[in-house]
Amino acid sequence: MTGIDLLRDALRNRGTAFTLEERERLGLAGLLPPRVEAIGEQVARVLAALHGQPSPMAKFSYLSTLRDENETLFFRTLIDNLEELVPIVYTPTIGQACLDWSRIYQRPRGLYITPRERGRIAAVLRAWPQREVKIIVVTDGGRILGLGDLGANGMGIPIGKLALYVACAGVDPAACLPVTLDVGTDNASVREDPLYLGRREARLAGPAYDELIEEFVVAAREVFPAVLVQFEDFANANAFRLLAAYRTLVCSFNDDIQGTGAMGLAGLYAAERITGAPLSDQRLLFFGAGEAGIGMAELVAVAMAREGLSEGEARRRCWLFDSKGLIVSRRADLPEHKRRFAQDHAPIGDLLSAVEAGRPTVLVGASGQAGAFTAPVLAAMARLNERPVIFALSNPTSKAECTAEDAYRATGGRAILATGSPFAPVSRDGRTHFTGQANNSFIFPGLGLGILASGASRVTDEMFFAAARALADQVGPEDLAAGRIFPPTSRMRDVAAAVATVVARTAYAEDFATRTQPPDIAAHVRAIMYRAEYG
Ligand code: NAI
Repeated sequence: MTGIDLLRDALRNRGTAFTLEERERLGLAGLLPPRVEAIGEQVARVLAALHGQPSPMAKFSYLSTLRDENETLFFRTLIDNLEELVPIVYTPTIGQACLDWSRIYQRPRGLYITPRERGRIAAVLRAWPQREVKIIVVTDGGRILGLGDLGANGMGIPIGKLALYVACAGVDPAACLPVTLDVGTDNASVREDPLYLGRREARLAGPAYDELIEEFVVAAREVFPAVLVQFEDFANANAFRLLAAYRTLVCSFNDDIQGTGAMGLAGLYAAERITGAPLSDQRLLFFGAGEAGIGMAELVAVAMAREGLSEGEARRRCWLFDSKGLIVSRRADLPEHKRRFAQDHAPIGDLLSAVEAGRPTVLVGASGQAGAFTAPVLAAMARLNERPVIFALSNPTSKAECTAEDAYRATGGRAILATGSPFAPVSRDGRTHFTGQANNSFIFPGLGLGILASGASRVTDEMFFAAARALADQVGPEDLAAGRIFPPTSRMRDVAAAVATVVARTAYAEDFATRTQPPDIAAHVRAIMYRAEYG
């Protein structure tokens, strides 16, 4: 490829970094400003332009354009500035980008598959320009962050998640495929938006929906044989079913259920180092009993049982609360994933009463209900515990169950707080509190890299337990001293490498690996990580 075509190919373009010799050889003479820059200088210029943008959404658009022009430079900038830029390409800005998707759309990225493609999904996948796809992140837009059904506007999520696979875990951008299954939307305001780019139909449901998913999964495996499929932001009713249907059949996982579970467990292991109380002593109250809440509760219950509790005792320590109140055995309509946590207790309809009754040491918000952790709820947690552990997992920031300010104020600064989206440090009473970001982005990139490194054919529960331990081990004494039970975002690459190493090790131990075991798995993982350099 030469000339202007080369400059328009985002994967090959180097812009002003093409040397004078390359410019002659590749027909670029006159097409670039004369100065030849090193990639570091290009990054400095990108940052200068970025800092001139007036809002996070303007920064998002600027970076999207950069990515369309020069992927290496986009990822180099991201990798070198994770702390600053992950909140732009991922939560919270990605939430607004999804809400605005049909209005800010400029260039295609990823695949949109609709019921019209039934019977020829494999052909659609074959038309994708990259042949070496290793990871697919797929959504049907059914539950985008805590924002609900956004239909095809949900495409921002697979794109954002895969950007983290590249930036944090060093997966080659050419190996990543974002997919939206546009099966319609039941969100009337989205459907009736004159600029909406998706199908203006009610959501497909029942057998027709299942058949579309089945054809997609089969086609993905056929066209990209060893591909890892990550199910992302499917609505609750489909997420659990699809996980159960595919987890043992193909190399797949549900990030909202399993990734969140491992991340949450890691946070509890790290918090244990502050409170001094083992996991098996904790009592947890989950506000929100959906994918995130149940995913975390399931993993925590098994982890408690491994510390010696009976399964029944472990589940009695995990209370769940949904939109109808505390999950208790006398409730008739409970699906199996909730029934497993039903308590023999009288019904309770409000969170504060549930806190008073259950006396939890850990309160987890996974409800998408902004402000649900009111001052009285947080104060009750502080009365019951010297160091109450509070997770406000809901994303984006506008959906968080409490802000960092709320939590530290109501608990007199004693909360051990972690939030799904980042919060700025809070200063009060002469102390600065740093809030750890409790986000599954500390798990899925490393998990995927570990699967690729080992050629694992399945994603197993043991991999999530190992990933949780590895993530907790990445939390240093300096993080705990600052009040953080997760590492800072700036260390996401180290975290991903550590998670990948234990995931690959588990794949070999469980005999799911298909690649020859390297003598040093950690070194191998580091060696295969993409670094965003001009090759
Ligand atoms: P979901 O739809 O599966 O579950 C939501 C749960 O909240 C349901 O059990 C529902 O009954 C409950 N709920 C809704 N309104 C309620 C109310 N007023 N009172 C009590 N309970 C109520 O959703 P999912 O996947 O569990 O996600 C929930 C939130 O967690 C979202 O905001 C999502 O962005 C966030 N999340 C954060 C992650 C992270 O890494 N920090 C990972 C996954 C999800």
